[in-house]
Amino acid sequence: MENEKRSVVVSGARPTGRLHLGNYWGTLRNWAELQDKFNCYFFVADWHALTTGADKSESLAANTREMVLDWLAIGLDPAKAVFFRQSDVKPHAELALLLGMVTPISWLLRNPTFKDQLQELYKQKYKGQEDKMKKAEGVTRQLAEAHGHDADELALHSDMAVYGFLGYPVLMAADILLYDATHVPIGRDQLPHLELTRDMVRRFNHMFGGDVLKEPEPLFTSSPVVPGLDGRKMSKSYGNTISIFEEAKTLEAKIKKMYTDPQKIKLDDKGHPEGCVVCAFHKLYNPDWKAREQECREGKVGCGACKKQLTELMEKEIGALRTRRAELAATVDPEKLLAGGAVKARAAADAKMKAVSRAAGLI
Ligand code: TRP
Repeated sequence: MENEKRSVVVSGARPTGRLHLGNYWGTLRNWAELQDKFNCYFFVADWHALTTGADKSESLAANTREMVLDWLAIGLDPAKAVFFRQSDVKPHAELALLLGMVTPISWLLRNPTFKDQLQELYKQKYKGQEDKMKKAEGVTRQLAEAHGHDADELALHSDMAVYGFLGYPVLMAADILLYDATHVPIGRDQLPHLELTRDMVRRFNHMFGGDVLKEPEPLFTSSPVVPGLDGRKMSKSYGNTISIFEEAKTLEAKIKKMYTDPQKIKLDDKGHPEGCVVCAFHKLYNPDWKAREQECREGKVGCGACKKQLTELMEKEIGALRTRRAELAATVDPEKLLAGGAVKARAAADAKMKAVSRAAGLI
């Protein structure tokens, strides 16, 4: 990023519930760094949350407000970056509509995230109920007979495969292009979406002439590995998470449960820090983690003591965040903050939409 002042960073997060340490180390800490260097737009992607969660919509608005408080508590600052709610800025929908005119359905059907997530959701819904799976709403008897237990095929024809979900990358492209983002900080899992965004830009500019849309680059910020309590990736669906604001008591209990080297049973057994979850967290919270790993390897420290120290280190940081979160919840009105952000986002979005509408021949 040679010209840092002119770089525009856009990123969004779906308000699907409270944040955990995987989100914190994977995304939010990077956002906090980016807000100091670039022109940043960070938003709550509530429309995106509806693409797969229309049945959980009763908690959407509350989750949005909680998420904003979470963001503030970890140091995101409305004086440095623009924070807003996607559905407050209608041009996101308008641009998505126009991008839909240049996006072949085949691109969307090929999108690996669409297929994988749809199958995942479908299987979750009908876990252990194959008879129901075949009778899912929207799946006709003929289809079910033709495809047997092929859940992938059935999912695609069920009522779960809504148009909005197929169009997820189109809306995401609109989010990005509306602000002429030069860089989008994303995890590898979101790369197909960004590639689609770039394809849409080229097709739009080619069809309508000119270069009204700008191709963004992915920004792979370095983020450490954050395993869940059981050693798998930290994820809400695995039930192995630690909250960013975990209570002291449950934090202690969770660290006690953490997966450690199964070959280290007695204190003086030589340990293997690779693959040990406690060690992975020492790396994040203990400045002297290298010395600690050495002691573990040499059998000079037991897992109990190692966990106890980790509990103290983590509680120090997490406890401070908890306090800050509680203060903010008592003093800040997230709706007000979002309204202010929306005004700023709209100014940029409206101007862009005008240029795009002109390019598309509408005005
Ligand atoms: N798809 C992103 C995710 O699930 C969220 C998102 C929506 C996003 N719109 C975006 C991220 C625009 C970056 C830019 O994590």
